[in-house]
Amino acid sequence: MRIVDLRSDTVTRPTLKMRQAMKDAEVGDDGFGDDPATNRFEKMAADCVGKEDALFVPSGTMGNLIAIMVHAKPGEGLICDKFAHINTLVAGNTAALTGTTICPLEVDESGHFDLNELESNINLDNIHFPRTSLIVLENSNNLAGGTVVTPEDTSEISRIAKRHNLRFHLDGARVFNSAIAQGVDVVELTGNCDSVMFCLSKGLASPVGSIIAGTKTFIKEARRIRKMLGGVMRQTGILAACGIISLEEMIDRLAEDHDNARYLAKGIEGIDGFSINLKTVQTNIICFKFELPKLGCKEFVDKVAKKGIYVVHLYKDFGRMVTHKDLNKSDLDYAMEVFKNTVSEQ
Ligand SMILES: Cc1ncc(COP(=O)(O)O)c(C=O)c1O
Repeated sequence: MRIVDLRSDTVTRPTLKMRQAMKDAEVGDDGFGDDPATNRFEKMAADCVGKEDALFVPSGTMGNLIAIMVHAKPGEGLICDKFAHINTLVAGNTAALTGTTICPLEVDESGHFDLNELESNINLDNIHFPRTSLIVLENSNNLAGGTVVTPEDTSEISRIAKRHNLRFHLDGARVFNSAIAQGVDVVELTGNCDSVMFCLSKGLASPVGSIIAGTKTFIKEARRIRKMLGGVMRQTGILAACGIISLEEMIDRLAEDHDNARYLAKGIEGIDGFSINLKTVQTNIICFKFELPKLGCKEFVDKVAKKGIYVVHLYKDFGRMVTHKDLNKSDLDYAMEVFKNTVSEQ
């Protein structure tokens, strides 16, 4: 059966060059700081996002957790958008493991919160509420449909953070998608943040891992917390070797995934049952609504999965598709054929 896997860009397979690099990687024990490939990769990653230092971590989820734990103490408050990954898709880990309270902001159709609203939710003095110590921004914004935040808005958020002596962390799981889509240097999106996390195992096609980057002081503490969470991975050179290829070779090609996402979104817009806000299709993610009188979103997703087309059902009538390097336009045409047939069977 022909499979078209649109569930996520995390399904991307490592390239042949990555597999070769894994085989050739010079390794040591990263727990002792002596894995040569990892050390080289962390330096390269820090430079890439304009930070003093960086740390290789097992996942984006752990990277965000570590950053929050460095920046905020239990009992303190952090502000992010209501649908942010750290507030929705982490099995409650922000509350359970960091002890912070999230103050979630309402967002517009593009997933952006209002900057006045952000500022008015900062609490420094009222003893009844958690004292705000951190702002977390997601760019690109996953559940808003991969929408981007501009360098100007990022700078304004940074100014607000500084004005109130708060820290500012960027969940940049797909920040390179955002930079490529906007035609800006990624440092314009990361430079003003105190810390940034980005993922290698999504559109950049590495098999495992994420980076957190910030000042040397931030990374020193992050290293301690990574240890506390059991995130030391030993001979990580095998993975870092792939990360180096992700940064050297896989960033510019993300434009192709964005082009494919627009192609797919325009195509499925015309299929019965689908509603899509094309304005939000800015990178490689398509969030859609699907509903027909006799076919709900979850049933539709289950039916097409049986025919080899994998899509994510998010909640209620909403679902998500993501384009990536292992899909081409012929795969997307085939997926759309299956969608049409499934709908017309009703
Ligand atoms: C915006 C965002 N942040 C963080 C993560 C977590 O990354 P990981 O799956 O590597 O834990 C994801 C994963 O999908 C994400 O979309």
